Amino acid sequence: MTISLILNGEDVSAKVRSVDRLADLLRDTFHLIGLRSDCRCGRCGRCLVFLDGRLVPSCIIPAFAARGKEVVTIEGYAQTEDYADVKAGFADAGVSTCGFCEESKIMAAGALLERRPRPTPREILEQMSSAPCRCTDPDAIVKAVLAASDRRARRLYRRAGQ
Ligand code: FES
Ligand code: FES
Repeated sequence: MTISLILNGEDVSAKVRSVDRLADLLRDTFHLIGLRSDCRCGRCGRCLVFLDGRLVPSCIIPAFAARGKEVVTIEGYAQTEDYADVKAGFADAGVSTCGFCEESKIMAAGALLERRPRPTPREILEQMSSAPCRCTDPDAIVKAVLAASDRRARRLYRRAGQ
């Protein structure tokens, strides 16, 4: 079947089979290789995308489920101010990573801040379990997300005052 969707802000369409997963559609058809399809069972978080604003592991979502929906991958998210806040928050907190799952962590943090602009450390750790990371200290990630929260709040405050 052919499905249409909005992908990173653009109207696109593609042929999919019932067995295809969203991660494969994004990587193989649209060449969005910022996401990986590693565990293919919803555990590693390397394939996170926003599907109609909800953070989901695209490896367990059938491709046809994106029909008529909006999908944002890291390539699209990286163009947003929300992404810039989180990325800068990680830098503020001095988080250094091996890079393996950094983009997934940024998407997970951004999704949390959208829902909970002032999250607690516990909420941060719960959320970040959707993008498990082997190389970064959890305390550093909490600091990074809190720093991103501050940046986001300052940006929105400045905008409200304009
Ligand atoms: S590939 Fe691991 S959660 Fe999707
Ligand atoms: S950034 Fe290194 S494992 Fe997550």
